[in-house]
Amino acid sequence: MRVIFLVFLLVISIFGEDFITKMEYAKMLYFNPRGIGCNLCHGKNGQGSIIARYRSKGKKRVLKAPAINTLSLATFSQALKTNHRVMPTYFLTDKEIEVLYFYVTSKANN
Ligand code: HEC
Repeated sequence: MRVIFLVFLLVISIFGEDFITKMEYAKMLYFNPRGIGCNLCHGKNGQGSIIARYRSKGKKRVLKAPAINTLSLATFSQALKTNHRVMPTYFLTDKEIEVLYFYVTSKANN
């Protein structure tokens, strides 16, 4: 019985990572990064989008989230480790940031 369990654990540890593809994981994280989904502001592929239109002092204004699919990894990563006025602060690991970067810069996606 114990041997079967150990074999089972071995199989999981070898094949476990392949249960979902990197792309599936990346998409999940982009839509649900332990906080508000990036897609809600930056669009479903990171192409950027309009968050709101409003009027201030009689002028029409537009609040936009920039495109994030053409940045360098360094800029992308830096932005996720600093505080912003509009964008929430996330607490992502370097690995998670890299996976999010993979998602928005993937050719299959844009
Ligand atoms: C509430 C809307 C909102 C959400 C949600 C959001 N962002 Fe942003 N993001 C912005 C805005 C607006 C900016 C421009 C800086 C600012 O004013 O906050 C920005 C800036 C950025 C930048 C820097 C862009 C540049 O040109 O330097 C990156 C990278 C980025 N966001 C990635 C993400 C990722 C990845 C997520 C999800 C983990 C996310 N954002 C979630 C609104 C959002």
